[in-house]
Formats: sequence, C-alpha cells, structure tokens
Amino acid sequence: MSWAHHCTIFGCKLLSLISYAYPLLAIVVAFYAILIYISKSTRLSGTFQIRSSFDGNADVFEEESGVYRIYAENKLAGAYANGYTTASNRLWQMEYLRRLAQGRLSEIFGQSTVPIDEGFRILGFKKVCEEELEYLKDYNTELVDAYFQGVNDYAHTHSSPLQFHFFGINYENYTIVDSCTLTKLTGFMLCGNWGDEVVRDYLSAITQDEELVQGLYSYSDSQFDEFSTTILNEQELIDIGFNTTERLPQVENLLKGNITNYVDEVVSEMIEEIESVKIDGSNAWIISGEHTETGMPIISNDPHLGNSLPSIWYYSHIEYPDGAFISGATIPGIPFFAVFTTEKIAFTITAIPADGSDVYKEKIIGNEYEYEGKLYPLNVRKEVIKVKNSNSIVLKVKSTRHGPLLNPKSIEALNNVAKGAPIKMPKGDYSYRWGGIIPQDNQAFKTFSNINDAQSAKELLDMVKQSSGFDDNILFCDNLGEHGNIGYAPYGSYPKRTKDAGHRISRGWINENEWDEYIPGDEKPYLLNPKKGYIVMANNPISTANTKNQISTYSLGTARAYRISELIEELIRTKSGSIGYKDMIDILSDVKDPYAEQKKQYFINITRQYMKKNNIESQGKEEIMNMLDKWDGTYKIDMKEPVYFTLWEFFFRSTFMTEQFKNNKETKMKIFSNGYFEANFVQLFRNISSNPDHFAKYCRKYGAIDSENCPHLLYLSLNNTIEYTRAFHDSDTLWGDVHTMRYPNIPFTKSILKWFFDREVKASGNLNTINMAGFKFSKFEGKNTPNTYYIGDIWSWLFASKREFPSDYSGNLKFISLMNGTVYYSLDTGVSESLFSGFYFNMNPRHMMNKLYRADFPREDYFLAMDMEPMRRFKIKNIEAKACIEDL
Ligand SMILES: *[C@@H]1O[C@H](CO)[C@@H](O)[C@H](O)[C@H]1NC(C)=O
Ligand SMILES: *[C@@H]1O[C@H](CO)[C@@H](O)[C@H](O)[C@H]1NC(C)=O
Ligand SMILES: *[C@@H]1O[C@H](CO)[C@@H](O)[C@H](O)[C@H]1NC(C)=O
Ligand SMILES: *[C@@H]1O[C@H](CO)[C@@H](O)[C@H](O)[C@H]1NC(C)=O
Ligand SMILES: *[C@@H]1O[C@H](CO)[C@@H](O)[C@H](O)[C@H]1NC(C)=O
Ligand SMILES: *[C@@H]1O[C@H](CO)[C@@H](O)[C@H](O)[C@H]1NC(C)=O
Ligand SMILES: *[C@@H]1O[C@H](CO)[C@@H](O)[C@H](O)[C@H]1NC(C)=O
Repeated sequence: MSWAHHCTIFGCKLLSLISYAYPLLAIVVAFYAILIYISKSTRLSGTFQIRSSFDGNADVFEEESGVYRIYAENKLAGAYANGYTTASNRLWQMEYLRRLAQGRLSEIFGQSTVPIDEGFRILGFKKVCEEELEYLKDYNTELVDAYFQGVNDYAHTHSSPLQFHFFGINYENYTIVDSCTLTKLTGFMLCGNWGDEVVRDYLSAITQDEELVQGLYSYSDSQFDEFSTTILNEQELIDIGFNTTERLPQVENLLKGNITNYVDEVVSEMIEEIESVKIDGSNAWIISGEHTETGMPIISNDPHLGNSLPSIWYYSHIEYPDGAFISGATIPGIPFFAVFTTEKIAFTITAIPADGSDVYKEKIIGNEYEYEGKLYPLNVRKEVIKVKNSNSIVLKVKSTRHGPLLNPKSIEALNNVAKGAPIKMPKGDYSYRWGGIIPQDNQAFKTFSNINDAQSAKELLDMVKQSSGFDDNILFCDNLGEHGNIGYAPYGSYPKRTKDAGHRISRGWINENEWDEYIPGDEKPYLLNPKKGYIVMANNPISTANTKNQISTYSLGTARAYRISELIEELIRTKSGSIGYKDMIDILSDVKDPYAEQKKQYFINITRQYMKKNNIESQGKEEIMNMLDKWDGTYKIDMKEPVYFTLWEFFFRSTFMTEQFKNNKETKMKIFSNGYFEANFVQLFRNISSNPDHFAKYCRKYGAIDSENCPHLLYLSLNNTIEYTRAFHDSDTLWGDVHTMRYPNIPFTKSILKWFFDREVKASGNLNTINMAGFKFSKFEGKNTPNTYYIGDIWSWLFASKREFPSDYSGNLKFISLMNGTVYYSLDTGVSESLFSGFYFNMNPRHMMNKLYRADFPREDYFLAMDMEPMRRFKIKNIEAKACIEDL
C-alpha cells in the first residue's frame, strides 16, 4: 500500500478548500480580533491593597511569575484576599468548573453538552452538597466565607471576563455549595476504578477469553513483576502490624462477559475536547532530612491532570506579620490549599488507585428493583436541564439501594471529562455506587481547614487517617526536631469489603458485593519516618495484597514509582547528607521509560527471530532495530529513537485484536491507551515471545493483510513504521516534532478562536516517564491514521494538532519545598486566564525546562521585598473592596 496516492488527493482537496476558506477566515478573524480588543484584561496588576470587611487588610505583591504574594494582617484577611485575587485571575474558570460539576453547561453552550450535563445530574453533586450542608451547621465556616466574600466582592466590582459577555452569563454569587460540588468533581475524577470494572466485562464479552482479560486488565500483584514498587514495602507492612495471610474470598460468578449489548454511539465533538479536569496520575516523593544538605526533609509533587488553559491549578502565597506563611496551589473555587508548604509543614497529593466505586447490574420491574428476593421502590428525582436555544430537558433520575441508574450515552460522555468513567456502557439497568454521592459528613471543608493549619507531621497523620470524603494519597512532612519528620497516609473514605469482588460489574439483586461501612481511621495503612529514608508515591499500589483492609487493588502502572525510587536510592547511596534542590530537579526532569526499555527488547527479539525463520531481507529494518537496541528507553525532545519505537507500538496496538474489535476500533484504542494497560503490555510481549501461537487469534489481521501470528504482526508493524516515516517524515524527525503538549482553552478550542487561545509546544517524555507527558494512541488513530491522513475532515486538518502524538496531560503544577522557608513552584500555563494579561502562558517555557520559580519566606519587611529579585516593582494602587459581612 502506498500513501503517495492519498497525498495527491489531499493536495487537491487542500488547494480548493483554502481558496474558499481564506476570505471567510479573514472576516472571522478580524471580527474576533476586535472583540478581544474591546474586552479588557480583568487581571489586577501591580502591587495593591485590599481592604476586607474583616478587621484586617492585605497588601498584594506581584512576583515575576505573576503569582501574588499576599501580605495579610490576619487569617480572615488572607482568605478574603486570596479569594479576591483568585477571582481576578480565574473567574471564568470558576464559573465553568461549577457549571461542569452541576450539569449546567448546556445553559450556556446549548445542545452539544447535554450528555455531559445529564451525566452530572445523574450523579447529583449539587443535591448531595445541599444535604451535606446540614453537617456543617456546627462548624465555623468563617474562613471559607471570607474566601467567597473576596470572590464575590471582586466579581461585583469589576467587569466580567470575556466569556461572560460571549455566552451571556450573569454572575451568581459563589457559595459553599458550589465549592462543595468542585470537591465532588475532583473526588469523582480521582475515583477511577468503576470504569475498569466495565472495561473488563466489555473485554470478556468481546473476546470470550477470561485468561486474556485477566492478563490484559489484571488487578493482581503479579501484574508488575520486576517493576513492582509499592509505597510500603513488606517490612514496613509488618512494622505497622498490617501483614496478613488471610485474603478476602474471591467471588467466582460475577457477570463475566455475559453482557453483549454494549452501546456503540459516538459522542459529540464538543464533548471530546472538554478535558480540563481529567486526572491521570501524579508523582510525589519525599527524602528524609538525614540525607539532605539542609538537614530537613525535601518534598516534591507534580500532579498530572488534563492540560487546559488556564491550568486547573492556581498558585499563591499568603504571609502573616508573625512570620507564618502558606505557599501553594488551590483549585479555583475551593478555598483550601491542596498542595502547600507552611513555615512548619508541607502537604502533597497524588491519585490513589483504590477500589472506591462499583457498578451493579439491576433487575428492575416497573418502578421497583429486586434485592434478595424482595422488591423495593425505586427512588425517583427530577432534574431540569436548561438548554440554550432549546427546550429544557426534564431528566428522571432513578436510584436503587446502590445508587443512581446510569444512562449509557451520558456515562460515555463523562468518560471524556473523567477518565475513570467507563469508556463503554452496556444498555440496560446499571447502577453506580460511590461514597461521594451518598450524603455524609463531608469533611473536606473541616479537615482541609485544619490541615492547612497543622503544626506537625504527627498531627497531619491523625487528620489524614481520620478524614473522610474523596480519596487521595498524601505525603507530608514537618521540620521539627533534628531532621524533621516524613509521613504517608491515604486520605478519604474507603469501602470495607468482605469479598474481593469489586473488579467486575456485580449482580445487584443478590448480596454479592455489598458495602456500607468504611475502613476506620486507625485501620488505614501509614508510614512515619521509614528506615529507608524516603517515600515515593506515583499511583502505585500501597502494598502487596497480603495486607489488612486492602485499599489499593489496581494500579495505573509502576513505571514512574519504580524509576523515582531507583533514582532516590542512587542519591542516598552516593551523596547522603548533601542531597539538595538540584537533585530534585534531576528526578523531576527524568524521561526514561523503564517499560519501554524492556518492551523494545521484546519487539526486536521477536521480530528478528521471525525474519530469520522466514528468510526475510532487512530492507532498512535491521538499521532501525540496531538503533533501538542501543536506546535505553529515554524520550528526549531531540531523539529519533522514540519516534520509531512509538510508531511501531502504535501500528501494533491499532492492529492487535482487529477482528474482535472490528466494529469499534476507537474504543479499542481508548482501552489500549489507558495507563492501566501499560504494565500488562510488557507482560503480553513476554508471553508472546514464549508462546506466539497462544495469542495467534488476536493477531490475525493487519489492515487488509492476513497475519499469521503476533510475531508476523510485529514484523508488519515495523514494516509499516518504515513506510510511514518515509512517506511523512524527514529522515531526522525528532520526538519533539511528533510529540507536543497541547493546552486547549475552554471553550474556544472548539472555534476558530483556537488560533488565539490555544497553545502547543514540543514535549519530551511519555505516559510512563517521571516528567510525564501522556499522549493517547487513540488521538492519532481517530484523526490522522495513515489511510486517512489529513484527509476527510478539513477542519480538523486546519485546526487540529499536526503532530501524531499530541499530549493532553502532564505535570501541570511542579512544587518543591526545602522546609526551611524556600519553596520552588511553577504552573504549566500562567496564573491568569486572560489572554492579554501577560500571565496567560508565561510560566510555560520555564516549566517545560524544569526551571522553577523560587520564593523565600518570611519577609520581615514587605517593602524590602520590592527591592529583591524576583519581585517586580509597581505603582501602588488602592482597590476599594466593598465589605459586607456583618455577622462576623
Ligand atoms: C452577592 O455578593 C455581593 C458582593 O459580595 C453582595 O453585595 C450581594 O448582596 C450578594 N448577593 C446575594 C444575592 O447574596
Ligand atoms: C502472561 O503469562 C503469565 C503467566 O502465565 C500470566 O499470569 C499473565 O496473565 C499473562 N499476561 C498476559 C498479558 O497475557
Ligand atoms: C506478619 O509477618 C510476620 C513476620 O514475617 C509473621 O511472623 C506474622 O505471622 C505475620 N502476620 C500475619 C497476620 O500474617
Ligand atoms: C447469562 O445470561 C443468560 C441470559 O440472560 C442467563 O440465562 C445465564 O444464566 C447467564 N449466565 C451467567 C453465568 O450469569
Ligand atoms: C533479547 O535477545 C538478546 C540477545 O539474544 C538477549 O540477551 C535478551 O535477554 C533478549 N531480551 C528479551 C527481553 O527477551
Ligand atoms: C514492506 O515494505 C516494503 C517497502 O518498504 C514493501 O515493498 C513490502 O511489500 C512490505 N512488506 C509487506 C509484507 O507488507
Ligand atoms: C534553604 O536552604 C537552601 C539550601 O541550603 C538555601 O539556599 C536557602 O537560602 C535556604 N532558605 C532560607 C529561607 O533560608
């Protein structure tokens, strides 16, 4: 097959389309340029003073990065000023996020977002949050209220961001309920395993091969082999008395593939691009003060969420006259710092791979559902979704004892927002159980305000262990005593299971996989000052399965945790006592994929054997294999090897199981791009190399060509890699040419305004590297497959990334605290959402090079601060904030 033919067609098409498109483009561009020109930048600039209604003011300085350093007279003034300045940078994002969480996007975007809104209405965050307010009655919410007061005061005294005018939005005051729905949204994103339960059943249905499903989508310890890296090692498990030989009993007859009616509808395009809050994993590590140059712990965190403009994270510092400070990141709209350091402690987060949610098949008879032989009435709730330029939709949400019944289409739509949601859903009655949508004493507000205020690691450990609400892994430390203290614990509520059943869709009508209780605080695993002198968490399992109350039952893969641990152990061996900031940056910048190093060797060995056996001439293949032989799995911008290897992998993944997935290739690529699949992929090749015939039926097709077995398929994939690169690449195409980091602006990424608002830069790394830049093979598959390369949808050609492997998620925040008053930080975009603020994308160049911004605390005299780098000097400008909380 040759691409030359298509290229010619493509040439003709392009020419004719451009001649039509140009005048039109010019008019539209001019129109929008004017629009943007007249809409002012909303950001507060320079150094200024905020007068809160509380007994206290705040002076605000702008750092070189654009980050505000708030010098507040007291805590209330600090919270108020933080809310005020966050709103000045991110009011549209806050509006967008609360609409997303509450299923109110269609009010402003129209029909295209209805499926997503339906999804979130079914989950019902808003209703849950309203009920949870009850629990907050006795809680002093004044800090929270001060933040919202700041937000609302800003919104009422300044012109709204561009998007408000564009979509005709009238600002409604931000409330604690809005904020609570954002905590639910975040928690929901972090709780990923229900999608995997459905994927396993889907794979079962499609392959009818339990062994393969178990292998490809495993949830057992053996999944990781030599890369196995758990947060607690065996000895540490024993030390806290958590080791056990009693495993939870397996449940044998879950549905297992007895579901065939999976829905094959394509979700609308608008939805495809709403990816701003996807959570795909994160790194955090901490090294004990015994090994560092300062004698105090060093802590580092880079949470990996979906890329967006602006970043999901907002960064700020608040400082108080007594020298206390807090420096860290918030999600705009949530008053508390989620990743931060103070003068005493530091606190970091990563997603925990926990089994916190389940999907049940239900037997519904009329308005009732069956459970243990009896019928119970369905709970019915009405939701009205207003739709711009259209009639409102009345949605009836029905629930069983497990939770709401899901609607297949809207759940698939949610998968584009929350990666944890199922990629595919069967038709029929399935319910969803997750603690986050069962009204309970939502401790996010109480606990986080205490956590921001904690005085020691010990105190933090107790708070984290006793916490409830969304699930997260937490690393923390303090600088007390000679070398400070370092610790780990899982945050949130985890089901206390009696059976090891949460890996598949469960049968809801029998008591097969029920849970009502959560694991009590003192039965959660933890670490405090482990002997090894460091702790690493990167979405790896907490421990092996021989533990009491198993919390982590699956994992996104261990490549990053494995590599970070390897690098830290090397540091401790070679330079204990002098480990410093520079070493942290070296780890943060690492782009070696240990899985790739292993995988490529299987690829090469299997292909070489195949070629030898069949006397096939090299025709350029040996050259590439020799090059890859010497490669160590490093994905640097200026390397060629990753280009070849990634294409080779792509062609294999996209043709593996062609027959089984003949009706829904896109789904297959989504499954095969999932982080979960990565660890198993290495094993798959090991198994293929030892027994190719066993897998032959999954390797029978290569496009239009019949393939004999997997070695043949691998060979054809390599052949195609060569053909493809000859047709589409220069001889020296580098990783940074095909692998870029995309930052879509919501919502303009879907319009021609994308040219102004979106950004794309070259990127190193991949899904499995510490410096993470996860791309999805499915993106390439959907838009630019060789056969349809750049043809078909001219708009996607004009506006979409022209890179084969655009990356949509990465470390959006990078954060290192030395625990001595020095903190390093950067965001992948800038602090402001306003295109003309100068702080829209300013941090990115340094972020990509891992040159973080530095801030030192405390500053005795804030005027002195203005003479110090990296602060900028501005005219003082007074902002009169209207103050209006009376009852405080
Ligand atoms: C909204 O907030 C503004 C400014 O804080 C305040 O003046 C106004 O009374 C609030 N409106 C409502 C309906 O609470
Ligand atoms: C590979 O083989 C091992 C041992 O037979 C098995 O446990 C595992 O599930 C297999 N993995 C895959 C991906 O086939
Ligand atoms: C935990 O490990 C220790 C040491 O290996 C062993 O003696 C003990 O029996 C184990 N406890 C349980 C409950 O398995
Ligand atoms: C599969 O489904 C069929 C029809 O719904 C049912 O008769 C059969 O018992 C099911 N098998 C299992 C293992 O659940
Ligand atoms: C690949 O082959 C080489 C040389 O024959 C051998 O040393 C290596 O262990 C093999 N690697 C794998 C992963 O099979
Ligand atoms: C492999 O690629 C070459 C061109 O590089 C082509 O001539 C040949 O037909 C391909 N082989 C197969 C089996 O597709
Ligand atoms: C913290 O320690 C580092 C490394 O020794 C040093 O460069 C920095 O100045 C210290 N920070 C403060 C605020 O003293």
